[in-house]
Amino acid sequence: MQEAIRKLLEDASREISGSREDPRQLDQIRIRYLGRKGELAQLFKQLAQVPEALRRDCGKLLNEAKAQIEELLSLKLIEAKDRSAERRDRVDVTAPGRRPLRGRLHPITQTAMEICRIFHWLGFETVEGPEVELDYYNFEALNIPKDHPARDMQDTFYISEDVVLRTHTSPLQVRVMEKRTPPIRVIAPGRTYRCDSDVTHTPMFHQVEGLMVGTNISFGDLKGLLTIFVHQMFGPETGLRFRPRFFPFTEPSAEVDIECVMCRGKGCRVCSQTGWLEILGSGMVDPEVFKMVGYDPEQVTGFAFGMGIERIAMLKFGIDDLRLFFENDLRFLKQF
Ligand code: PHE
Repeated sequence: MQEAIRKLLEDASREISGSREDPRQLDQIRIRYLGRKGELAQLFKQLAQVPEALRRDCGKLLNEAKAQIEELLSLKLIEAKDRSAERRDRVDVTAPGRRPLRGRLHPITQTAMEICRIFHWLGFETVEGPEVELDYYNFEALNIPKDHPARDMQDTFYISEDVVLRTHTSPLQVRVMEKRTPPIRVIAPGRTYRCDSDVTHTPMFHQVEGLMVGTNISFGDLKGLLTIFVHQMFGPETGLRFRPRFFPFTEPSAEVDIECVMCRGKGCRVCSQTGWLEILGSGMVDPEVFKMVGYDPEQVTGFAFGMGIERIAMLKFGIDDLRLFFENDLRFLKQF
């Protein structure tokens, strides 16, 4: 019996010290030796057959063996825990560095900056104005009185009877002229709003307004300037045309089309087979608007234009769905 106990203890300690520091493996060892049907339990059972004289000593030996195996197991378990914590805290100095995620500018912002850059180069200065605008600046001062049918074209969100979300950046024309005296050369990028929502309209969109006022500014200047802009933005081979149009705050007025950048004027789905794409509205500042800001229409002349930034960005980047700009899908935004 004593011999069997000694052997069991030896086997158990060899197995424990030789084991991996794996709590699950240690648990299996524990069950095999100390479990209810384990090897130690078998020996305890045999104790009954041991001659009376030796039984006490054998019992004591068995208890000691049990305590010793328990001790060995728990020491090994503590060691295993220490070792894995150590492994976790270690810094691997040879691992390649992790690149921090880098943001980027939204394609609309990029396009607005590009438009502004071209006009800065032409001597224009950037100004900004409020998106929550007085009805006066958005409509009234631009020669669009309360009952004017032109208001239907630009239905908006009313904050109150006199305060609206601006439907275009044109209020900046009035705000700038009220504060300054000619010569004026400004552009005004920003958000604009209309009660529109379908495949080609979002309730919020972006425009850049341009205004140039001075003496002897002619429609020829407007034409030349916009031609330079289009050539800078879309390449010198891009054709453009001026089509007559009505705006209450410019006279005469024109809409500007550029040759379709997708098909180069041949006609395709994007340009509805016409070969042309509308990019902006423009015209000579109406004398009525000059009067509103206290300028003498006999002394000064000028022109204004307003273009949709989304439109320009779609053409520039070859994007065929306006809504992509505002869905905030990184898979889309990462491409620019
Ligand atoms: N504000 C006009 C629009 O949003 C565009 C425009 C601007 C037309 C300046 C003429 C002069 O449609």
